[in-house]
Amino acid sequence: MKDQKKILAELLAGTVEGLSAEEIENMIEVPPESSMGDFAFPCFKLAKTMRKAPQMIAADITEKLSGSDVFSEVKNVNAYVNFFMNRAEVAADVISEVVQKAEEYGSSDIGNGKKVIVEYSSPNIAKPFHIGHIRSTVIGNSIYKIYNALGYDTVRINHLGDYGTQFGKMIVAYKRWGNKEEVEKEPIKTLLKYYVQFHDEADKDPSLEDEARATFTRLEKGEKEETELWQWFRDESLKEFTYVYDMLGVEFDSYAGESFYSDKMDRIVDMMEEKGILKESEGARIVDLEEYGMTPALIKKKDGSTLYITRDIAAAVYRKEHYNFDKNIYVVASQQNLHFQQWFRIIELMGFDWADQCVHVPFGMVSLEDGTMSTRKGKVVFLIDVLNSAVEKTKEVIKEKNVATEDIEQTAKDVGIGAVIFQELSNNRIKDYTFSWNKVLNFEGETGPYVQYTHARAVSVLRNAGESAEAVISGKVKSDMSFVSGDSAYELVKSIARFPQVVIEAADKYEPSIVTRHIIDIAQFFNKFYHDEHILVDNEAEKSAKLSLVYAAQQTIKNGLTLLGMSAPERM
Ligand code: ARG
Repeated sequence: MKDQKKILAELLAGTVEGLSAEEIENMIEVPPESSMGDFAFPCFKLAKTMRKAPQMIAADITEKLSGSDVFSEVKNVNAYVNFFMNRAEVAADVISEVVQKAEEYGSSDIGNGKKVIVEYSSPNIAKPFHIGHIRSTVIGNSIYKIYNALGYDTVRINHLGDYGTQFGKMIVAYKRWGNKEEVEKEPIKTLLKYYVQFHDEADKDPSLEDEARATFTRLEKGEKEETELWQWFRDESLKEFTYVYDMLGVEFDSYAGESFYSDKMDRIVDMMEEKGILKESEGARIVDLEEYGMTPALIKKKDGSTLYITRDIAAAVYRKEHYNFDKNIYVVASQQNLHFQQWFRIIELMGFDWADQCVHVPFGMVSLEDGTMSTRKGKVVFLIDVLNSAVEKTKEVIKEKNVATEDIEQTAKDVGIGAVIFQELSNNRIKDYTFSWNKVLNFEGETGPYVQYTHARAVSVLRNAGESAEAVISGKVKSDMSFVSGDSAYELVKSIARFPQVVIEAADKYEPSIVTRHIIDIAQFFNKFYHDEHILVDNEAEKSAKLSLVYAAQQTIKNGLTLLGMSAPERM
């Protein structure tokens, strides 16, 4: 696909003095409205070097470039030159690119040869996977897909919270009050119940805490009974997580969680000792970060046990040695900002020059319409329940709206879960937001169902067109694109053309919402085009041109949905 801006910059470079095509490209503006042209070039800056009034320079350029068939019109407005591209040519170029690349449209090879780790989800064993966790899972999954589409060699890691003193408590609780069948039936809810019970009982009988500590020590030493119980809790929890991941269509390459590093910590602590960055504080080993405006990081407790942060440092070193990443991304809530700033700094102090390849991608909090959700307040919303009710509620909407589908179950799943994912990825990730069923499942707003519905509508136009559409999609016909150069067709063409750049920008900013917003735009432009124009007209040439645009829109929306981790149902 041609880079229209670049082409313009090169043409301009031939008409002005003292500026390179690259400098010119940076000066080119996109007018707020298409009626003012596709591009505008301000001439103020040139006055000095060219020793002429900007208006005159603009008039000169207008005259020189007016003859070019790249443009349908070149217009001089004061010190500006406005360029109207040859719409039919732009459309032909963009659409043929989509036809040729199909599901690869928007992909590229800019990441070839570079390894990127994306760590996301990372729930805690035997703790609920609540709606707050969905953010990391869904954002991380999309970031992975975006990087993957750009040719990076990606590794998906789930850094499970499967280690720590709480397992001592859980084992004690299970041995006292536990029931095997109950755990197997609903592992996380049950284990959580034991955990809560442990705390209630420990309030009355503090000796339970000592027992839990001793139990954790036995677990750390690898004693058989404790290890087996721990392993079983982990397996059962993972089964439940996997059920959620399957529903969301999320996968991982590695589940190396915190426990994986339990035998890799001594070496890390030794390295830190060698570098002289550890200090003693009340018997514990800490890194003083005052110089950097941060509270000290506790690395090793008085009793010799290590901490969450120690395991993160060990994990990063392991990942560098094992994968040799070019980038190591952590999709973790903004509540952990300090934690990441601390240990990124520690990695740097340890002398690792790859510290700046570690990136924390934070995100804000989700709350429910009836108040914040927090585990502590006991107001736990389980992700699985959210997903199940999304599917149930969608089923109702489908029946109510008489949605055209042959498989209600599948469509309800695609749309319901898609709606939750889409909502998650609609806003800038750092923003806190309130989860609202009405907003999420609305078919008319800027929602997942709206975009999926638009996609299905485009598919249905193509289906109804039968062979004419097939000829276009297979690239057999070369259509006359002057039939798709009206205003609404052209806006659609331009939004499709921007898609590959949008994907790159989303990767650079670790911001899937850039893709989300853009496919909402494409869907809206498509619907405008659909309302403004008759597509299945008698004139074959006109019909095939319009069908080719419908196809390009449909394929681009689908590619966008795929990058978000959503499916694109063909009937809705
Ligand atoms: N398990 C942690 C939690 O649920 C998140 C882990 C984030 N990843 C990390 N490398 N620290 O809060």
